[in-house]
Amino acid sequence: MIYSRITGTGGYLPDNVLTNADLEKMVETSDQWIVERTGIRQRHIADDDQTTCDLAYEAAIRAIDAAGIATRDIDLIVVATTTPNRIFPSTACLLQERLDIHGCAAFDIQAVCTGFVYALSVVDKFIRTGSARCVLVVGAETLSRIIDWNDRSTCVLFGDGAGAMVVQASEEPGILSTHLHADGQYKELLTVSGGVSEHAERLKSGEAKVLMKGNEVFKTAVKTLGQIVDETLEANRLEKSDVDWLVPHQANIRIISATAKKLKMSMERVVTTVEHHGNTSAASIPLAFDVAVRDGRIQRGETILMEAFGGGFTWGSVLLKY
Ligand code: UT7
Repeated sequence: MIYSRITGTGGYLPDNVLTNADLEKMVETSDQWIVERTGIRQRHIADDDQTTCDLAYEAAIRAIDAAGIATRDIDLIVVATTTPNRIFPSTACLLQERLDIHGCAAFDIQAVCTGFVYALSVVDKFIRTGSARCVLVVGAETLSRIIDWNDRSTCVLFGDGAGAMVVQASEEPGILSTHLHADGQYKELLTVSGGVSEHAERLKSGEAKVLMKGNEVFKTAVKTLGQIVDETLEANRLEKSDVDWLVPHQANIRIISATAKKLKMSMERVVTTVEHHGNTSAASIPLAFDVAVRDGRIQRGETILMEAFGGGFTWGSVLLKY
C-alpha cells in the first residue's frame, strides 16, 4: 500500500507586521474587540513588490531543505491560493521556474481558506495512484491586496503568508483519509466583489474587495466543522481520544475552540497561530503545522486532524499519521 507522507515543512511570513494598535489608527476598532472576538493580535503584510510566488518560494525552500530532497526530485507542484500573482500562468508554474525545475506538472487550486486541505487531498490521490512520488504542496496568499482597508468588519481579520510541505510516497502510513465538501448556495456570504468576467469594472477600478457576512459565516463554520470531525473519525473508525493534535484553519480562536470542544480536546493539543498572523487563508494550516513540527510538539507517529472552512462555502479535513 502506498501512503502520502509529509517529509518536510516550511513557513514564511513577510517582515512587515500590522498590529491591532496600528489598525486602531486606521478604522474604528480596538485591540480589545479584535482580541476578544477573534484572538488575533497582529498580522503580516507583504511589501508592495512582494508577490504570492515570493512568499511561496521562501516557504518552499524551507520545506525542501527540511525534507532533505533536491529540487530535481520534485515531480508535481501544487499551490493553493486565492490571490495568485497573475490570472495565468498559475503561481505553481511561476514557482517551478523560481525553483529552476522544468517539466513536472504544476497547477493551482482555488478553494479559498479550504485550499490547502483540497490541495493535500488531490496530492494524496496523485501519490496513491502512482502518478507522483515527490510533491511540493504550498498554501500562499497576499490577501492584503484584496482587503478594503476602510472596512473594519474584514480588515482586522486577514494577513499574508505561505506554508509548504514536501509530501512523498511511502510504505509507512501518512495521510489516512481526506474529506472535501462545497456548497455554492452560500456564494454571497464570503466573496470578492469583482472578478475577471463578473463585475470586471470593479477589478479594473481596484474596487474588487473581500465582502463577508461575518456572523453568518461564523455560525455555519462552527456547525459544519463539528460535522466534518464526526465524518472523519467515523470513516477511520477512530474515537475522539485517538487524535493527538488538531491543526485547524486559523480564522478565529472562537471557531477553533468550538471544534476542540467538539473533540473533547484540551486547547493544549490544538495548534493555534492565529494570534500571530490572523487569517492567511490557504497558508494557515501549513504555517501552523510547520510551527508545531519545528518546536517539537508534533512528533512522528502521532495522529493529526486538519480541518478548514472557507468561501464557497468549501470545507474539508485531512486525517494523517505524521
Ligand atoms: O476563514 C474563512 C471564514 N471566515 C471566518 O471564519 C470568519 C467568521 N466570522 C468571524 O470570525 C466573526 O463573525 C467576526 C470576528 C468577523 C465578527 O465577530 P461577531 O461576534 O460575529 O461580531 P458581529 O459581526 O456580530 O458584530 C458585532 C458588533 C457589530 O456592532 P453592533 O451591530 O452590535 O453595534 C459590528 O458592527 O461588532 C461590530 N464590529 C466591530 N467593532 C469593532 C464589527 N467589526 C468590528 C471591529 N471593531 N473590527
